[in-house]
Amino acid sequence: MNQRVLVASNRGPVSYQFGADGSLTGSRGGGGMIAGVTDGLAALDPGTDVTWICAALSDADRAVARSQEADPSDEGLRAGIPVRMLDIAPATFDRAYNNVANSALWFLLHQLFDTPNQPRFGREFRRDWESYLAYNEAFADALTQEALSGDAGLRVLIQDYHLCLVPRLLRNRLGHRLGEDARDAGIGHFCHTPWAPPDYYRMLPDEVGWALLDGILGADRAGFHAERWATAFMDCCAAVLGAQVSRVGLGGPGPGPVGRVTYRGHVTEVAVNPLGVDAPALRERARAGDVQANVDALRRAAGDRKLIVRVDRTELSKNIVRGLAAYRELLVTRPQWRGRVVHLAFAYPSRSALAEYRAYTDQVRQLAGQITEEFRTADWDPLLLEVRDDYPRSLAACALADVLLVNPIRDGMNLVAQEGPVLSERGCALVLSREAGAAATLAADALLVNPYDVTETAEALHQALAMPDAERQRRGAALAATAAADPPARWLGGQLASLGSLPGAGWPARSGQWPSWPASAVSSATTPSGPATTRSAAAATCGDSALALATAQPGTPSARSARTAAKAGRSPRSSPQNKTERAARSPASPVSALPLSTPGGRSSITRRPGSAARPSRVASSPSGARSRSSAACGSAVPRVCTATACALSSTQVPSGAPAAASTPGSAARASATAAGARVVVSSPSCHRCQP
Ligand code: G6P
Repeated sequence: MNQRVLVASNRGPVSYQFGADGSLTGSRGGGGMIAGVTDGLAALDPGTDVTWICAALSDADRAVARSQEADPSDEGLRAGIPVRMLDIAPATFDRAYNNVANSALWFLLHQLFDTPNQPRFGREFRRDWESYLAYNEAFADALTQEALSGDAGLRVLIQDYHLCLVPRLLRNRLGHRLGEDARDAGIGHFCHTPWAPPDYYRMLPDEVGWALLDGILGADRAGFHAERWATAFMDCCAAVLGAQVSRVGLGGPGPGPVGRVTYRGHVTEVAVNPLGVDAPALRERARAGDVQANVDALRRAAGDRKLIVRVDRTELSKNIVRGLAAYRELLVTRPQWRGRVVHLAFAYPSRSALAEYRAYTDQVRQLAGQITEEFRTADWDPLLLEVRDDYPRSLAACALADVLLVNPIRDGMNLVAQEGPVLSERGCALVLSREAGAAATLAADALLVNPYDVTETAEALHQALAMPDAERQRRGAALAATAAADPPARWLGGQLASLGSLPGAGWPARSGQWPSWPASAVSSATTPSGPATTRSAAAATCGDSALALATAQPGTPSARSARTAAKAGRSPRSSPQNKTERAARSPASPVSALPLSTPGGRSSITRRPGSAARPSRVASSPSGARSRSSAACGSAVPRVCTATACALSSTQVPSGAPAAASTPGSAARASATAAGARVVVSSPSCHRCQP
């Protein structure tokens, strides 16, 4: 039987722009996650049936998502990935992506909050959280549709913090739809960022922190780039959810399983899969004329001086300002380098919708300007700051680097730290933050620094510059070999292989019995983590919207809409969410074909390649979408379950007590657990419990 692979991520592998004449041009999406998944998929057996579901990020993407055309061909194609873009209502998308994913979750997972002032989880955040929920539902609905439209063995690979709720939502939707059908399926979630330890994670409102963990635990496998992040995740599962965690030491940088989390009767394997680079392809790309032209230009600009290179998005976690401060300190404390070194700093634009990012970009420019002012001489420019995304130029800079500076505050992995040594012509010394996931694999041959310690970083830059050629070459070669050891093909293939071998993965035919996630709605007075949140009976009775209810303050629109909906027996969703769901279920959802592998786009350095592919038409896709009534339940409470609130049942049953979950499709009923304190109410007709 052929394998079927569904990928879900916020940013997709292709993005579109309008030309001056209104025509659409497609170019490859940028970033390490895109590079890893795209190149990993390219290496799969050609018979594998792949669909990649992503959000439409721009008006041009939305036009594509809405249109019925696609261009399945492009120069340099080895294969095509069918891409389905979700046209999520702009307001919903903005709140989910900018306000929750980028402002709350990114800051949380990278521990970036300026805690005396941020975060502030008030009513606005509760509103944003509802959008995050709706946005995750849109993905879960689209995945469900795709999953049900094919017979092949199914693997679902869900990417990143944008989509934490999707595994649980999907598990519920598929479980209820598939019934007793034999189905070979597995859900994986992969987080490309760090994970925060429980003390920091607990900054989130309880119900939000709980829902995110519970969402990921809907997967059969939760993957991370480094054991550190996987361990932090398991620590949160134990501390926040009270889940049962069993750990196995990895004894190295991975790949491999590091533990299992048992929660709501389902076992999730927690595993490490470090993502390296496709070294041959990267080197081949660097031999192209556009890169070589930049090599010549940069060589002329630097003369015979040493080059310190960095390539980053202008991203708070990348720590560019402290990197510049360290370079300045180097020039102050080690004056022998003045006139003998040039710092090439590539700081590409990122997330400019957020004020923090705009302010950070200003800081970078300001400090760079000060350094130039302070040290520049008639024949020496100490610092070249490049803020325009230029992929060939970044590759050229890496090829010429004597020293590569990668000093993030925290980073899930960091591919630049691996790409630099692979590209380097003379072997580069790597000054690497010990807080990057890549430090787990590269530590032995890099110069590790504490990213907050500017003086230590300056000293490491000095050591790197002064390193004897032979040692730099030896270390550089070792770094390149390590980076090449886990190419995307192995990273993605390993995840698929272990998803297929997990005893807990799959649906009834594989596991022999229904996993005990509840189809029922559950009412309880406490959250799994304790009495931190009070849920109304109505809230706890209905999964998805229970979360909305639980997070809404009395009098807020969501609380009001939920109560109104409860009276009317319909979903309490406000119109944007309903629009989102309708959009996601639209039969017109397009599937376009993407270049799976172009000679130009294999690197995380490729943030925004800029090299637009030729204008695309967008293909139609008879998606076979079904629309569902949002008033499926005629009950007195809003019957809108995503498992998120339904989760209360099994976790709260003391060991030895009968499970409180009910079989999908069972008639409404109530039962008391051995603890005598919990009442389980299930409805067979809830449209989200039983999509
Ligand atoms: C970085 C992270 C990825 C994440 C991406 C999102 O590359 O490593 O894990 O998916 O940022 O970036 P975006 O530009 O889409 O917000």
